[in-house]
Amino acid sequence: MVSKTLIQLFPLPGGEVSLEGLYLKEALFRRGTFERPFVYGNFLTSLDGRIALEDDKGMAYTPSSLTTSDDFRLFLELQAQADCLITHGGYLRALDAGRLGSILQVGTHTAGMDLPEWRRQQGLSAQPAVVIASASLDFPLPESLKAHDQKVYIATGADAPEARLSFWRKQGIEVLVVGRGALVDGDLLTRALGDRGYRTLYLIAGPQMLETMTRESCLAVLFQTITHQLMGGEAFRTLVPGPVLGPFGHLKLVTLFYDQAGSNGAGQWFAQFKTINGRTDSP
Ligand SMILES: NC(=O)c1ccc[n+]([C@@H]2O[C@H](COP(=O)([O-])OP(=O)(O)OC[C@H]3O[C@@H](n4cnc5c(N)ncnc54)[C@H](OP(=O)(O)O)[C@@H]3O)[C@@H](O)[C@H]2O)c1
Repeated sequence: MVSKTLIQLFPLPGGEVSLEGLYLKEALFRRGTFERPFVYGNFLTSLDGRIALEDDKGMAYTPSSLTTSDDFRLFLELQAQADCLITHGGYLRALDAGRLGSILQVGTHTAGMDLPEWRRQQGLSAQPAVVIASASLDFPLPESLKAHDQKVYIATGADAPEARLSFWRKQGIEVLVVGRGALVDGDLLTRALGDRGYRTLYLIAGPQMLETMTRESCLAVLFQTITHQLMGGEAFRTLVPGPVLGPFGHLKLVTLFYDQAGSNGAGQWFAQFKTINGRTDSP
């Protein structure tokens, strides 16, 4: 297969670079420590800042025009570097209902068949652990986690429903109570995972967890694919809900690549930002 070429726009001098291997070269898995795990996330947005639209029942969905095969390859390269994935209850409900595909294992998609071997060569475990952030604790566990022998944690807040807590504990799942109210607190979660031997935490959750991690200065790096389309839509979701973030949301560009035509025909930028107040060891 001939790898696709992108144009490097930043840092200068730019030039042509291969898409495949682009984010593996970042060696994110070497940046964290048990004391300070490295937290990174990846989002896809339109030029007008949409990450999802709402249907007429208020259910959010990511329009297919936002996703491209090029972006998905890079998503998989980021996933392959994690020793722990952070997802949430809503994703497991959507997976169970068939509304979303599985992104919980490395090497299960055609676009990333080389990645299990790459992980092995770096000395990483066969599969990352999985953390499910949830306030309700009401979600099904997919069979695939057991089939791939993945360590699973549930993360919740102190107000979690008692009956659901004991349900999961009886299944032998470790529940991390890492929040003062109903929700998970990013700093407590990051520390708890460091204490359990995880250094590289990939946020594959939604905007609420991105907000939690950013506001609490836990996010180190944000990867963002910006597709060159104006999406519109009356009801939509954007990257971060909640009150103004102020300096916690200030970022610095690390890399920027230009894909002249993604599989949907529109161009896109692949951007990498580091947080200024966050815990970052990136250059
Ligand atoms: N374009 C993109 O890159 C992108 C990326 C992610 C998501 N999306 C889309 O955006 C839309 C909304 O995102 P979403 O539904 O995935 O995520 P979300 O609205 O951010 O969060 C959904 C669920 O996550 C759990 N959660 C989030 N933060 C938590 C916290 N601090 N503590 C405890 N639990 C927490 C809760 O689960 P419980 O209900 O179980 O308590 C919550 O209901 C969806 O359509 C999704 O597909 C797009």
